[in-house]
Amino acid sequence: MATPISATLIPGDGIGPEIIDATLAAFDALGAQFNWDRQIAGLEGVKVAGDPLPVATLDSIRRTRLALKGPLETPSGGGYRSSNVRLREEFQLYANLRPALTVIPGGRFDKIDLVVVRENLEGLYIGHEHYVKIDDDPHAVAMATGINTRAGSRRLLEFAFEHAVATGRKKVSIVHKANIMKALTGIFLETGLELYERKYKGQFELDTVIIDACAMKLVLNPWQFDMLVTTNLFGDILSDLVAGLVGGLGMAPGANIGADAAIFEAVHGSAPDIAGKGIANPTALMLAGAMMLDHCRMTDEATRLRTAIDATLNLDKVRTGDLGGTAKTAEFTKALVSRIQGG
Ligand code: NAI
Repeated sequence: MATPISATLIPGDGIGPEIIDATLAAFDALGAQFNWDRQIAGLEGVKVAGDPLPVATLDSIRRTRLALKGPLETPSGGGYRSSNVRLREEFQLYANLRPALTVIPGGRFDKIDLVVVRENLEGLYIGHEHYVKIDDDPHAVAMATGINTRAGSRRLLEFAFEHAVATGRKKVSIVHKANIMKALTGIFLETGLELYERKYKGQFELDTVIIDACAMKLVLNPWQFDMLVTTNLFGDILSDLVAGLVGGLGMAPGANIGADAAIFEAVHGSAPDIAGKGIANPTALMLAGAMMLDHCRMTDEATRLRTAIDATLNLDKVRTGDLGGTAKTAEFTKALVSRIQGG
């Protein structure tokens, strides 16, 4: 038997521990062996170690270069800076890969097979912000600095284009706002067009689309797109939009990939409104687990996991509440495990 791969496990906040347990049960049933190093972050990190990103957690990922992560809570407005953003920065996880694939047919949008590739380290999203005090108003002016670099744009675009070629995508759309933010998003567009001409022309079709028009087109006719590649903030918004096309956040996995580390997670957050109720849909994290198995070249296990998810949802019709079903997380997991075991 192969030596188990070392990986960091961060159950996270809210529904995180519930969906991580479900995913581990699926991995066990698959016989996918990992040597897990369990760590904390987010709100749990603050509560237990007084730090949303404890040193022990960072040290663990420095060692394993691989993590499966539940959602981490970030306070809105004030409070600590997002641990997710800090993790991406620390390990230079510059590419965020978010596939949206219809698993349950017959929904409002059928047969969706899209992938959003989001730049993960630059742009307006990174949170370089401050207020300017005027008279007695400490929040009189709010400012944010967005930075996109040629090198950062190029490595992300190169990752996306390579992924498009490797996975047989026919069309890549660069999503931008270079008509208004001429420098900030213009550099991304310009770099993409230049890279395509120089290295990828003829391997797939390249298209460019302005973010606002892209949002409308995705709702009117999402089938016109194949892969969307875009800057950080636009990618954040578009990946939730495409998750909505395939049944919601409970179905959307994501991978944060760098040159020598990768963190796999669901697109959704900690869902505090349903935490502890045992009703969360673990599918998104399980699909992220399948991406992790692919990444570790355990493609057979990844395929078996995806097939079992499909069978549980479509043949057994065991579905959680967000998908219109009545199954609890544990019931879904039990049905999935018995599918994996061939039951
Ligand atoms: P959210 O994604 O946690 O929840 C949005 C809605 O979707 C809620 O109604 C929730 O119940 C539902 N939902 C999400 N995942 C679900 C699942 N697996 N099964 C069933 N229903 C599900 O977004 P929200 O409420 O804006 O964020 C909550 C917290 O999560 C915030 O602190 C935010 O910063 C954090 N967050 C963390 C992320 C991460 O760690 N990657 C990503 C997004 C948000």
